[in-house]
Amino acid sequence: MSSMTVPKFAAAKQKGRKLAMLTAYDFTWASIVDAAGVDAILVGDTLGMVVQGNSTTLPVTIDEMIYHGKMVVRGTQNALVIVDLPFLSYQISPEQAIANAGRILKETGAAAVKLEGGISQAKTIAALTNADIPVMAHVGFKPQSIRAVGSMGKIQRDEDLLLADAKAAEAAGAFGIVLEMISSPISARITKELQIPTIGIGAGPECDGQVLVLNDMLGLTEGFKPKFLKHYANLHEIVTKSVQNYANDVREGTYPDADHSHQ
Ligand code: KIV
Ligand code: NA
Repeated sequence: MSSMTVPKFAAAKQKGRKLAMLTAYDFTWASIVDAAGVDAILVGDTLGMVVQGNSTTLPVTIDEMIYHGKMVVRGTQNALVIVDLPFLSYQISPEQAIANAGRILKETGAAAVKLEGGISQAKTIAALTNADIPVMAHVGFKPQSIRAVGSMGKIQRDEDLLLADAKAAEAAGAFGIVLEMISSPISARITKELQIPTIGIGAGPECDGQVLVLNDMLGLTEGFKPKFLKHYANLHEIVTKSVQNYANDVREGTYPDADHSHQ
């Protein structure tokens, strides 16, 4: 069991402590991210893109989220593990949302789930909360709505709608809320008006916390560089050079040398 809990996570806002969250999708990376000291690890359905190679998050299944959720929980000692509910695992009915979110909590050991929506998902957020399944909401740009909205990552500027969405999620019982691709003054206002922590991605500096896709911030996803993204490393280059050096060594017979061989 992780030492971070949903109530502690939610209380950070009242203490004025910013929350750092990153995604992870497997044991190795979750272990590193957790030991480095984030508050929460999101098993995001972005795994459909960065792990599976799909162009959207839509194909991801509940069984796949559970598979990755288990691996991340095994690697995590301190952070709160939150698992995304994938497309169509919660939209059909609150009952189905409880069944699927319940499977995630029971089968992975994660602490909470996340779903996309505010007003449209208020009933479902309330149903999950009433079943003691902690829910993080997600408003602004919602990647699972890509077919309806037509393009990826557009900045959201409809202040009244965004505030109403965020307030609906809070009123329904969400313990936190992701704000994705929202102009900074609007996410600042939402953050001020909500009691629950706001976790921004492309939503400016005034959110209560931030989240990034691990592969993106480590510079593994070559060619993907939206304005909000900061590369904290260039792992693509480091891994490429390492693999090239290894292959050269093998071909030239310089690896393994005596130091790396058994006599
Ligand atoms: O799936 C994901 O990684 C997410 C974050 C980017 C918020 O939902
Ligand atoms: Na997601």
